[in-house]
Amino acid sequence: MPRPRLGILLSGRGSNFLALRDAIADGRLEAEIAVVVSNVGEAPGLARARESGLATVALPHRGMRRRVHEEAVLETLRDHDVDWVCLAGYMRILGPTLIDAYPQRIVNIHPSLLPAFPGLDAQAQAWEYGVCVSGCTVHLVDMGMDTGPVVDQIAVTTAGVESARGLAERILEQEHVLYPRALGKLLGREWRVEGRRLVFL
Ligand code: GRF
Repeated sequence: MPRPRLGILLSGRGSNFLALRDAIADGRLEAEIAVVVSNVGEAPGLARARESGLATVALPHRGMRRRVHEEAVLETLRDHDVDWVCLAGYMRILGPTLIDAYPQRIVNIHPSLLPAFPGLDAQAQAWEYGVCVSGCTVHLVDMGMDTGPVVDQIAVTTAGVESARGLAERILEQEHVLYPRALGKLLGREWRVEGRRLVFL
């Protein structure tokens, strides 16, 4: 069977992209990375993708309407025969152009236990709130802000953590475990969405 082709969208350092790349390289994730796309030309993650010999495309969004930018992203994904889109620190809210083109085939990782602390700086939000447990979530992407059905989560405690930055580091380590694991489940198993729940059959 052909391996599912992933399109990675990122805007920054790309450590979650590297976790996916490494999981594929070690045979922990049956997939291939078809293309890495960034809206930030100088994103370190894009440079790492290029160094890894992967196809990369920079599509800066500045001065473009969301729809027009997404059409360019979509064309790139289609040019590379992408089956699944993985957001890995992609700092843009997706609109209908992309979401409707890949129904239930766009996945995101978020650094909190959703539905707690959606949006930006989730780790700092959790830290300032004073929670004892936080973590990370992989979810399907819908039109809301971090609202799509949950695929999988890992919790961490804040015990011994001394700052928002320390919490972010503790969570990031688990993100790198969670993303390949969650994607492996989605790609390898039968599932459907019932209401808000993603149910593995
Ligand atoms: C991660 O914390 C991820 O959960 C969030 O953005 C950050 C991206 O980090 N969506 P990286 O670029 O993957 O290192």
